[in-house]
Amino acid sequence: MLRKTYIEISRQSFCHNIAQFKKCLPPGGQLMAVVKADGYGHGAVQTALVAQAEGVAWAGVALVEEGIELRQGGVTLPILVLGAWPKEALPYFEQYQLTPTIHSPESARLLQDFAKAKGYQQPVHLKVDTGMGRIGFGPSQLFEFWEHFDSFDHLRVEGIDSHLARADEGLDEPTVTQFTRFNALIEGMDARFMPRWTHIANSSGTCDFKDFERGNLFRIGIGLYGQLPSAQLRNKPDLKQAITFKTEVVQLRDFEVNSPISYGGTWVTKRPSRIACIAVGYGDGYSRALSNRAQVLIRGQRMPVVGRVCMDLTLIDVTDFPEVCLGDQVVLIGRQGDEEILASELADIMGTINYEVCCNLSKRVPRFYLG
Ligand SMILES: Cc1ncc(COP(=O)(O)O)c(C=O)c1O
Repeated sequence: MLRKTYIEISRQSFCHNIAQFKKCLPPGGQLMAVVKADGYGHGAVQTALVAQAEGVAWAGVALVEEGIELRQGGVTLPILVLGAWPKEALPYFEQYQLTPTIHSPESARLLQDFAKAKGYQQPVHLKVDTGMGRIGFGPSQLFEFWEHFDSFDHLRVEGIDSHLARADEGLDEPTVTQFTRFNALIEGMDARFMPRWTHIANSSGTCDFKDFERGNLFRIGIGLYGQLPSAQLRNKPDLKQAITFKTEVVQLRDFEVNSPISYGGTWVTKRPSRIACIAVGYGDGYSRALSNRAQVLIRGQRMPVVGRVCMDLTLIDVTDFPEVCLGDQVVLIGRQGDEEILASELADIMGTINYEVCCNLSKRVPRFYLG
């Protein structure tokens, strides 16, 4: 690594977060580490391996390709492919021991026909839509599926799951409705079909709805990385942000009053100013929407981003901080001294969520794993 722009991921924080979520589980409940989108930008294989060592029961991915990456990286946990998959993916479930979600009658039929032709039993989890309005069997499709279940003799339903649409809003009603539908479905199910795993809760559903029946597997994504799913949660677990995104000061320059700074001259010096140039930009996932609005940490203090964020460089007004030197470390996300910048702080400025901030951190930024 020549450029000193990198991401550190703290194993200690990740393990701390797993422990916090374990405290939210009902007796017998288990965790699934959701490591899709490269572990929300934290590294899928690395985070799944730590989760495996910490006694997490499952890993969850969105894509078959992501499941294969985990297997090739040495992950031996059961892996659930949470998303929809194309028919070209069929051979890989058996080959890499990945459990597909059947998310529609068509996907169930494809898998049944494939497993029958190959002469094996395919374990699956069946997704039902209880109010998300996304993938999953609707109520009438589910009814029909059970009616014809005998014709799916090469599928072994090991799990039933659903997904919460609004558990992060600090409201009961929409989520309780989803729990109620999900639980009614499980209670009404023929004992012959009763699967080992039932799951509906994400990070918010796991920490905020402890009084409700919520299945026995809990799919945790954002919380494992130490990010709160939203500011509206009522029971906020004590989480530690696992990521630190760092760069350095690569140039310091003094400008006269009235000097335009960066593309478009959107910021102009109002006094003689000292501007630090730092080695990060939107090509690294430090969004252009942060132009003129975000702050960074240098020497433990907050300093403002001025002018437009460029692809590889960003400018900081350090006029009030004469102690800033060439080569000083800069924290974009994470802690320095007593100050901390959360991904959600950047998300608020960008008009998005911390999930997207983390997922957008680009591949060109090297990741280092502490501990
Ligand atoms: C199906 C499914 N389950 C679980 C999760 C994890 O959610 P969270 O990151 O809010 O914990 C996601 C994330 O988007 C998901 O799509």
